[in-house]
Amino acid sequence: MGRAIAHFDSDHEVIAAGRPQLEFERPETIRAVVADVRPDVVINCAGMTHVDACEGEPERAFAVNAEAPGVLAEAAAKAGAAIIHLSTDYVFDGKAQRPYREDDPARPLSVYGRSKLAGEDAVIASNPRHAVVRVSWVYSRFAGNFLSAMLGYAASQPEIKVVADQVSCPTPGAALAAALLRLAEGVHNKGAYGRFHLAGAEAVDRATLAEAVMKWAAGHGRPSVPIRRTLTSTFPTPAPRPLYTALDSTKIRQVYGLELPGWRAWLDDTLTAITGG
Ligand SMILES: NC(=O)c1ccc[n+]([C@@H]2O[C@H](COP(=O)([O-])OP(=O)(O)OC[C@H]3O[C@@H](n4cnc5c(N)ncnc54)[C@H](OP(=O)(O)O)[C@@H]3O)[C@@H](O)[C@H]2O)c1
Repeated sequence: MGRAIAHFDSDHEVIAAGRPQLEFERPETIRAVVADVRPDVVINCAGMTHVDACEGEPERAFAVNAEAPGVLAEAAAKAGAAIIHLSTDYVFDGKAQRPYREDDPARPLSVYGRSKLAGEDAVIASNPRHAVVRVSWVYSRFAGNFLSAMLGYAASQPEIKVVADQVSCPTPGAALAAALLRLAEGVHNKGAYGRFHLAGAEAVDRATLAEAVMKWAAGHGRPSVPIRRTLTSTFPTPAPRPLYTALDSTKIRQVYGLELPGWRAWLDDTLTAITGG
């Protein structure tokens, strides 16, 4: 997500910081970079995001996803900066019957989810001028993702098994980048803080999304194979996955006027961008 923001053409001076200068497992590098850059707003896109790796390395997951964001938020506060901190739908247990709102109880199932929730709390405790933004299923041309994986598998397999019981709100990375930059103006000028959900408007299951990717591929002269719908229980993973994590993004629309379109509206453009079109 950081790359999508750094590459977005905006009127703001965006300074991208990352490894090796900024290493979340070395808090002194966080303080040094913030003191050097003296930002108006920090947007934290860094994190240990490999869900199964977090399960095997809980200490590192908490260092990167929880402690470091707290240090970053505190350093930002000292520099007079607000902070936007990205979090995840995986703070929820996936048992809801309707899209999750910000004040629904968070009950993460995995180390990743627990470390991200601890990161939210650390940011909120360390900088009063904060926006914790939970996103879900973000797809852009800047990182490998579910969409690019489906296109890749179609080139090498006769069919693809995809779970039909994981449901969330796919989010276009490019539009999310634009929205986060507008939010940066908002938190800088307006001062409405808290936790927010910011995801694509429409929920869908992974298998249906994969079918749409295959339809696009077939229409663009690329390998396209049948999708075999299956269940999460047939794909054992080290970290359990929450099944239903659709996010209700009403609050951020009401407070900041930000809203992202549903996946049908942007899937073609995103696939074109991912495939270098
Ligand atoms: N993508 C999604 O679908 C999704 C869904 C829900 C929530 N989120 C949240 O959105 C945020 C961005 O996710 P993403 O998909 O852009 O993640 P990503 O592609 O995995 O990028 C994570 C970034 O964090 C950096 N990083 C990892 N460990 C670090 C460390 N110890 N010190 C400094 N930097 C470190 C990585 O740097 P290197 O490039 O050097 O490895 C990379 O630039 C995360 O907070 C994630 O939890 C994402």
